[in-house]
Amino acid sequence: MTEIIRINPINPEIRRVMEAAKVIKDGGTVAFPTETVYGLGANCFDKDACGRIFEIKGRPADNPLILHIPGQGWLGRVARDVDQRTLEFASKAWPGPITLVLKKNTDVPDIATAGLDTAAVRCPAHRIALELIEYSGVPIAAPSANISTKPSTTRFEHVVDDLDGKVDVIIDGGDATFGVESTIINMTTNPPVLLRPGAFTVEELEKYIGRISVPDTVNRTAAPDEVAIAPGMKYRHYAPDKKLVLASDGTILRGAAMLSGDMEEPLAILCSSETANTLKTTMKLRNISMIILGSEDNLYEVAKNLFDGFRALDETQAKLGLIQKFDERGIGLAIMNRISKATGNITIEKFGDLQSMLKQEA
Ligand code: TXA
Ligand code: MG
Repeated sequence: MTEIIRINPINPEIRRVMEAAKVIKDGGTVAFPTETVYGLGANCFDKDACGRIFEIKGRPADNPLILHIPGQGWLGRVARDVDQRTLEFASKAWPGPITLVLKKNTDVPDIATAGLDTAAVRCPAHRIALELIEYSGVPIAAPSANISTKPSTTRFEHVVDDLDGKVDVIIDGGDATFGVESTIINMTTNPPVLLRPGAFTVEELEKYIGRISVPDTVNRTAAPDEVAIAPGMKYRHYAPDKKLVLASDGTILRGAAMLSGDMEEPLAILCSSETANTLKTTMKLRNISMIILGSEDNLYEVAKNLFDGFRALDETQAKLGLIQKFDERGIGLAIMNRISKATGNITIEKFGDLQSMLKQEA
């Protein structure tokens, strides 16, 4: 049985937070909101509780969890030998959507970090999350609160869809602010290495810590024989059940819209409000579901709606989803990273390829 606890994200009701915290203390699992996506949390020092997280999600055991703390004061409980550069950075960036990979404190069980001697640590900028950790009295290990391979959950309803009946508690704390996960950076190397682009932009990061290394695999799924930079990045991720492909440019989208009436199979287009407007004003969109992600002038809006758009695709009659490209600056890098994972890097360069793919999926 899953208990739903509704909590006000702006001004959390303390009694309700304490009720959820007691479940963590007792070795249970609690799905809770953060500023990025919902997390599926348990006491990070409790092996069995961590094990339950992997079971519930169907998560491979070699994919470590992120450890959540309420402030820098708790760093010593999960990490060791943290250098001055990292302490200074954390004091400015936390709470916020940035996860630091650090040398791990041996009190953290191997199961939480998948046997690595490092731990990914984050202090979320969300009152419910912070108070839940404080009242639990322990750092909370939490991956995103979705079934493995599915898009991360950015709304309470998504969490219910994926985890109802599987976790002890789901906190209903409204929508996540950013909608993409935290940025992960390895601080044990010099220069620090970006492991996952996320809500905290690379441009911002460089302002704080100077040069960082951004591997060119950031926007491409690692080949099976390639060593992934963050263990989790080698897996298919964030994917809708239906096939999703990337349009190499506007020509493909216009072609699809123009010929939509003649196509035998329905298609969904995931795009910006600007793209939707041009497509709508220039042609009849028959046989096409439009899923609008937000304005290109505000990529934060697109990020916030992205995973919801992936989930919406599965609700349509479409046989296939076609998504547009976005600018890779700022939070756009995280958007394109999630899109390339969700599409498995399949880009449509020619309209004919889209038609044959539609037939295949039919
Ligand atoms: O925004 C977020 O980070 C959300 C919220 C809930 O905090 N959490 C999240 O967790 O996205 P998850 O488990 O979905 O992604 C964690 C990523 C995985 O790719 C994992 O491989 C990587 O963090 N990771 C964890 N520990 C690591 C470590 N020691 N070294 C390198 N990568 C690590
Ligand atoms: Mg995840």
